[in-house]
Amino acid sequence: MNAQELLQEISDYCRQAGLAESTFGRRAVNDGKLTARLRNGGRITTETLDRIRAFIHARRATAGLPQAAIIDPMNSASRTPTIAPKRPHTSGAPVTSPAGTDEDPQRNFRFFDNRQKYLLFVNTCSEKWVVANRVSLELANIHPRPPAVRVFDAGVGDGSVLTRVMRSMHDRFPHQPFYVAGKEISLEDVRLCLQKMADRFFEHAGTVLVLTNMNYADAPWLAVKSVNAASSLVWHELALTGTTSHQFEEQIMGLESFLSENWKAGVSPKTGNPVYERPVVLVIYRADHKFLLEPIIPHPGGTQANYDLVIASQPFRLRSSLEFKSKRVLAPLARALGPGGRMIAIHSHGHDPGMEIVTKVWPEENPFGHDRHALLKATKAELGPLGRDLNFNAYADNRSLFRYDMHTLPTEISASIGTSTLFAAWNAAVYVAQIEDARLEKVITETKYLEATAEVLQKHGGLWFYDESFVISRRRE
Ligand SMILES: C[S@@+](CC[C@H](N)C(=O)[O-])C[C@H]1O[C@@H](n2cnc3c(N)ncnc32)[C@H](O)[C@@H]1O
Repeated sequence: MNAQELLQEISDYCRQAGLAESTFGRRAVNDGKLTARLRNGGRITTETLDRIRAFIHARRATAGLPQAAIIDPMNSASRTPTIAPKRPHTSGAPVTSPAGTDEDPQRNFRFFDNRQKYLLFVNTCSEKWVVANRVSLELANIHPRPPAVRVFDAGVGDGSVLTRVMRSMHDRFPHQPFYVAGKEISLEDVRLCLQKMADRFFEHAGTVLVLTNMNYADAPWLAVKSVNAASSLVWHELALTGTTSHQFEEQIMGLESFLSENWKAGVSPKTGNPVYERPVVLVIYRADHKFLLEPIIPHPGGTQANYDLVIASQPFRLRSSLEFKSKRVLAPLARALGPGGRMIAIHSHGHDPGMEIVTKVWPEENPFGHDRHALLKATKAELGPLGRDLNFNAYADNRSLFRYDMHTLPTEISASIGTSTLFAAWNAAVYVAQIEDARLEKVITETKYLEATAEVLQKHGGLWFYDESFVISRRRE
C-alpha cells in the first residue's frame, strides 16, 4: 500500500465516521499531524501502518460500517468505480448519509452528484451555449487595460462555457493578450476542458491559460492561505512548442499522467464537499509568444487578481445556505474584480416545465432557495466597506432571466415519445433541481417518473428551463 492509498483509506474512513483527520491521527496513533505529514511526503514505519489499519478495521466492525469502501469524490468515470457504501432504503425511511450518520444529506449532494448526469445534461440541453452567449454580452461592457484582458472562470466544469467565451473574446479583442484563469477541482472536468483548448492557442496565440483546484477564496490570486497547504503546492508550467492545433493538442494530452498524479481530491468529513489533496496550478502558453506574454505569466507566490470578467456559472449547490453562497463564493469573487471589471453570476431559477416534472414526483420540492435579490443583498452585507466601489445589479426579470431548451426534433414529441428522449428529459429535470441519488433510487423502481416526464413533454411540446443572472461590477478608476 502506498501513501496515496493509505491517505485515501483514512479519508474514506474519516468521512464515513464524521471524524476530522487530525482527530483520527490522534486516536489511531497519537499523532494529530499524521495525514498532513503523509501528504507532504513523510514516511511511516510498517508498525505504524499496521496500527492505523487495525484501528480502522476495528472501528468499522464496531460501527457496522462497510470495510474499505472506495469513494470517488469527483464521480469520475475514469477512476476507480464508485462503491458508495449504500444502506438499503425502505420506502418512507428517512434518507441518511452514506455512513448512516446524522449529517444533512443535502450537504453530501456533490457526493451523490454524478458525472454521467452532468455530461448527459450538457450535451442534450442548450444551457452551456446560452450561458456562454449571455456571458459574452458582458464583453461589450468591460474596459481591459494593458497588459492583458483578464478573465476568471469560477468553476470551468467541462469547459464548454469557457471555450465559447474565449472565442467571443478573440472576436472582440483579436490583438490583446489574454490571461484566462479557471478553477476546477474535478480531474475529469479538467481533462475535458483541456481537450477543448488546443484550437484556442492556435487562433489566439497570445493566451496564458491557468487552471487550478484551489477554492474560491484563493484561486483568483493563485495563493493558498493555509501554510500547510501552501507547502504542498504543485506548480506546473507547459510552454507549448510548434504552431498547429494538432501539435498543441498532443502536448496538452501529454499532461495526462501529471494530472492523474496531482489533481486529486477527497471529501471533507465536515461538509461533505470535495477538497483537494494538494493545491495545483497549471500554466499553459505558447513558447513562441513567451516574450510577449512574460508580464502576465504568473509565478509561484501569488499573482494579482484584477479581473475584467468573472464567470460564475452555477457556482454553488442550490440548497447551500445563503451564508455559504455569499461568504464563500460570491464575496471572494467580487473582491477579485479589477477597476471596471464585471462578474456575471448565473444559477437555475425554476418556474419552468423542468420543475413541473419534478413536482409531479415530489410535490413539495423547491430547490431554488435564494433568488438574485437575496444573493446580492447578502453579498453586499458580507463585503461591508470592501463593497463601496461595487455596483450590485439585479436587473429586471426580462434582462436577468433567460431560457434554454432540451434539443428535441418536433417529430420526437408525439403520442409515443422514445425512451432516450424521455430519459434525457428526466435526467435534465432532476439534474437541474439537484435531486440526490438516494431519493432518485426510490422513485425509479416505478414507472410514475416516466409518465410524469411524458405528460410534461406532451403538454409543452418540448422541455425548457429558466436560469437567473445578475452582475456585480466595480467602478472604473
Ligand atoms: C459542474 S459545476 C458548474 C461548472 C460550470 N461553471 C458550468 O456551468 O458547467 C458546479 C455545480 O453546478 C451544478 N450545475 C451545473 N449546471 C447546472 C444547472 N443548469 N442547474 C443546476 N445545477 C447545475 C452541478 O451539479 C455542480 O454541482
